[in-house]
Amino acid sequence: MNEIFTKSMARNVYYGGSIFFILLFLALTLDTTIALPERDHRENITEQVAHGKTIWEENDCIGCHTLLGEGAYFAPELGNVYKRRGPGFIKAWLKAMPTNVPGRRQMPNFNLTDEELDALEAFLKWSSEINTANWPPNIEG
Ligand code: HEC
Repeated sequence: MNEIFTKSMARNVYYGGSIFFILLFLALTLDTTIALPERDHRENITEQVAHGKTIWEENDCIGCHTLLGEGAYFAPELGNVYKRRGPGFIKAWLKAMPTNVPGRRQMPNFNLTDEELDALEAFLKWSSEINTANWPPNIEG
């Protein structure tokens, strides 16, 4: 090897390094794209699940909660709430709001119908079954 680090050596390191990392990035992107359909079990997105997602968006649940780690940090993570609390809990919870317990953070009542609550629960059930590689690490967010 030369004792002097020449311009052409520097250029080769630059191009070689860039090409290596661009190829690595493309390979990882391809790997993720191939793995996604299985991890997000999209074949289970029924009309009810899609309706639940619309209700989730229209009522800005994400303004206080996180879903799979993304969102606001005022209230608990909900991506896994169906698994944590079990069937029926989400519906009962939304009907019981607000708790009006002094000193406790409050959640409003959204006055949703039974059908809308079932859809919301179906959406959160579907979310809880996504293979997120155990993300977020703190299950209550
Ligand atoms: C204004 C902020 C706010 C909004 C908007 C909000 N929440 Fe909440 N939510 C809270 C707070 C605060 C708690 C925790 C209350 C407590 O522990 O007493 C909570 C708790 C919950 C829980 C129980 C979580 C657990 O781990 O036991 C569920 C389920 C829930 N919210 C669902 C929803 C859904 C669905 C929406 C949208 C329709 C929504 N929330 C919108 C503030 C909010």
